[in-house]
Amino acid sequence: MNLLVTGGAGFIGSNLIHHIIERPEITRLVNLDCLTYAGHLINLEKISSHPKYVFEKVDLRDKQAVWETLQRHAITHVMHLAAESHVDRSITGPGDFVHTNVVGTFNLLEGCRALWLQQPTGTARQSTRFHHISTDEVYGSLGAQGKFTESSPLDPTSPYAASKAASDLFVLSAVKTHGFPAIVTRCTNNYGPFQFPEKFVPLMIAQALAGLPLPVYGDGRNVRDWIHVQDHCLAIDLILRKGKEGEVYNIGGECELENITVARKILSALRQPETLLKFVTDRLAHDRRYALDCSKLKAALGWSPAWDFERGLQETIQWYQANTSWLEEVRSGEYQRYFERHYLRREETFAGKSPARLE
Ligand code: NAD
Ligand code: TYD
Repeated sequence: MNLLVTGGAGFIGSNLIHHIIERPEITRLVNLDCLTYAGHLINLEKISSHPKYVFEKVDLRDKQAVWETLQRHAITHVMHLAAESHVDRSITGPGDFVHTNVVGTFNLLEGCRALWLQQPTGTARQSTRFHHISTDEVYGSLGAQGKFTESSPLDPTSPYAASKAASDLFVLSAVKTHGFPAIVTRCTNNYGPFQFPEKFVPLMIAQALAGLPLPVYGDGRNVRDWIHVQDHCLAIDLILRKGKEGEVYNIGGECELENITVARKILSALRQPETLLKFVTDRLAHDRRYALDCSKLKAALGWSPAWDFERGLQETIQWYQANTSWLEEVRSGEYQRYFERHYLRREETFAGKSPARLE
């Protein structure tokens, strides 16, 4: 398996690479990432010299570079995570979401189709797979009752969700039209180490650690279903290997909580007063509640979330406490210079060795 992980320098992608790199069936693991503000190679420091690991600084919007990367590494499997991922940014600047999430996914999809389906049918189907990582936000918002299943209609609210829904549909249409070997998974809100502090949990932790106000949108009663990133990684690892081609699988944490409850738990864990809670102007078209029915995945592959939220949150808080330099670095923009520094250091280290090692 020559596996391409896109967005491997981001939150879920870096956790995923740590999780799967030792799998014996993986010969080479290529991380394709263009290092936006959300991508940090520092997340992958521990495995950056692993013999299976290759980093490719490539932008999904650059079709030629994407296609060349697929061919150069004879990619057989793809886990596609790279995306613009923050709802608030999609409201103020939706263009990047269309270009990366829709056009970028299309470039990758077409590249894989050209590479894989030119092989005799059957061979390609058995030995190749495209796993598109999507979100519960494509289903839109729920009221107080009910859960989304895989056959719920897509009803995205934000430009982020709309761009993910569009990319899901391009992937699924390739399955129907060309017999393309793809799977789509839709997951709920992740939390855990290495999450960029613009998302709710790490932002609240970072603010509480600094003794600064925690900005809670609206009345704080919006509900999210929280899943530890390691449970998400376990699910997609399993689905890549054992999931059924052409299927969509929901992945949920079965842990619905109001935002205000999560913020209070963080304050309490860090022994900070509730006076730090600051109710601020609500997000436009703020989805009220997300919740997924995951019975399909449970019945088909025997997966269920293993992390208890209290333990997961405690460990996540401890990780941010122990990694304040990471927080400072990603917040200061230092991470943008990391690539140059890191690359130069490796160039010195590997001087005189094969240039391929420098990849
Ligand atoms: P993230 O924002 O932390 O990381 C995204 C990564 O993609 C970054 O490393 C970034 O540099 C890279 N990237 C962005 N645009 C790119 C481009 N044009 N070319 C190449 N690389 C590019 O995101 P995340 O939270 O790790 O989410 C990963 C995936 O999982 C996304 O597709 C997201 O929609 C999906 N998802 C996330 C959550 C969640 O709670 N975080 C939940 C469900 C689904
Ligand atoms: P977020 O982490 O942006 O994920 P998503 O919008 O994709 O679910 O936000 C999670 C919830 O937290 C969402 O209901 C919006 C809310 N929120 C705040 O109340 N304050 C904040 O500063 C942020 C970033 C989010």
